[in-house]
Amino acid sequence: MIILKTPDEIALMAKASRVVAEALEVLKSATKPGVTTDELDRLAEAEIRSRGALPAFKGYRNYPKTLCVSVNEQVVHGIPSKRVLKDGDIVGLDLGAIVGGFYGDSAVTIAVGRIDEKAATLVRVTEESLSLAIQQARVGNRLSDISHAVQQHVEAAGYSVVTEFVGHGIGRQLHEEPQVPNYGKPGQGPRLQPGMVLAIEPMVNMGGSAVRVLDDRWTAVTVDGSLSAHFEHTIAIQPSGPALVLSRL
Ligand code: MF3
Ligand code: CO
Repeated sequence: MIILKTPDEIALMAKASRVVAEALEVLKSATKPGVTTDELDRLAEAEIRSRGALPAFKGYRNYPKTLCVSVNEQVVHGIPSKRVLKDGDIVGLDLGAIVGGFYGDSAVTIAVGRIDEKAATLVRVTEESLSLAIQQARVGNRLSDISHAVQQHVEAAGYSVVTEFVGHGIGRQLHEEPQVPNYGKPGQGPRLQPGMVLAIEPMVNMGGSAVRVLDDRWTAVTVDGSLSAHFEHTIAIQPSGPALVLSRL
């Protein structure tokens, strides 16, 4: 776990997340019917490198690409390929960057062309659950207050949270302590400290919560084939008041 102390550390963490946020904006504009997920991956890598940063995922546990692209029933960790995106898909774009040894990590789920109302509601509720979670990320609260906020909102909408993957501390490594589950009772776990940096990342299934990993050893999909959405921000706990969302422009 990192506790940010020096201005240099804070500046590098902020820069890493900013690079991710800017690259994701470019990727969102490029995500249209007809584009391949490999094309998005190449764009992601170019946008990261042109900002003086390094891809955080490429080579991490042998992950082969810069970007994770998870389409429809794919939950997370979809590997870019020759797959062509089509009108009506929802697509998760998950990206990480390294600046001066510090990591940033963020994800969005967006519509390809026009999507139906049920898919749009899933995406909206998932993004809302991240906002509500971030609102709990403040001194005075405990870690599971973040987790509980996600679960509460998602289940009230009739959806399921994924339990096999979790958010995480982030800093000098992509994944640091503590784990940040998307479920749990409130008021448990470590007290949130100023300078803690967390990647909060709700993964939400329209149907059941069960997921499985494909034979490519990365792509997680819903067992029931239902749609899934994912949003992620890297946030820093402040001495008082709301967390700083480092990966928001
Ligand atoms: N945002 C994801 C995570 O924090 C992305 C990791 S992809 C990997 O786990 F390839 F780097 F593992
Ligand atoms: Co992450």
